[in-house]
Amino acid sequence: MGVESQNTTDMSTPIGLLMLGNPVLTASGTFGYSNEYEEFLSLKNLGAIITKGITLNPKKGNPQPRIKEVPNGLINSIGLENFGIHEFIDKKLPVLRDNDIEFIVNIAGESIDEYKKVASTCRESGIEAIELNLSCPNVDKGCLEFGRDEETLYKLVSEVRESFSGVVVVKLGSNVSFPEKIAVTAQKAGADAISAINTVKAMNLSLNPDYKGYKFIKGGLSGPCIKPIALNFIYEIKKRISIPIIGMGGIMTLTDMLEFLAVGADAVQVGTATFTDPNLSEKLVFELKNFMETNGFSNINELKHSLRTRT
Ligand SMILES: Cc1cc2nc3c(=O)[nH]c(=O)nc-3n(C[C@H](O)[C@H](O)[C@H](O)COP(=O)(O)O)c2cc1C
Repeated sequence: MGVESQNTTDMSTPIGLLMLGNPVLTASGTFGYSNEYEEFLSLKNLGAIITKGITLNPKKGNPQPRIKEVPNGLINSIGLENFGIHEFIDKKLPVLRDNDIEFIVNIAGESIDEYKKVASTCRESGIEAIELNLSCPNVDKGCLEFGRDEETLYKLVSEVRESFSGVVVVKLGSNVSFPEKIAVTAQKAGADAISAINTVKAMNLSLNPDYKGYKFIKGGLSGPCIKPIALNFIYEIKKRISIPIIGMGGIMTLTDMLEFLAVGADAVQVGTATFTDPNLSEKLVFELKNFMETNGFSNINELKHSLRTRT
């Protein structure tokens, strides 16, 4: 039984035609394909889970090292390692369906054609919602390339829109000059929602002990240190678009989540924090519900409205 059916607090959150029981989702690449977390929480209590990014063909990802902890964050350079859409459909989709949970398939590609092929394969398999990763900073080709140029982004999103009749979420990142223009373009091209932000381009350096040379990792920075960037991004795009926004970037606490709702997010995703606390996303659902009950909000929209009233 999901958290929603146990009480009268209405946390239901529409994302296009998808009606989520609550606004707490898990972020792509930090929650596997759901079954990996089954022993830690009841998946049904989450608004939805977003799968790891899937490409048309299997992808090996980047060479090691691919992960480095930094103060208040993590740099990753996974490089979209995954087993491709066909194996996903054969092996992981049945698991997601058996769990009877809402899920959104995160997809990536090196060309517009690849995104279209993955999207239409998803649709043929009955998948209802996809998240287009147009912002991954740690692959050589694709993703961010499509998410920072308005013309290319328009072409990609509108063509995917034609080949996929379900819900299309466009995932953007902060590694762009004019986030609000990019978000407006995604909306015009037919996106049902925007999710943001992806990881932030970053580098970590380790000087050798003898000060002769260094080792380094370049990749995408995530975790609490990027929360101020994410809040600003969402605040800026909210002024210009009318479709729902799913905010993420360093969420660890109820207060973090409320801050995202205050600047304009309709839902949130929990990412890196899951690595230190595997059932954090579920705890946040209960904390949000409890906060609403204690403070007299019977509906999530009332809470958002109250949070957005600036004093
Ligand atoms: C290890 C790792 C893998 C990720 N893989 C993906 C991915 O495949 N697709 C995607 O769109 N985002 C991916 N992300 C980005 C997250 O979904 C999220 O946008 C980002 O980490 C910011 O949120 P956070 O600070 O809460 O982690 C990944 C992040 C991490 C840390």
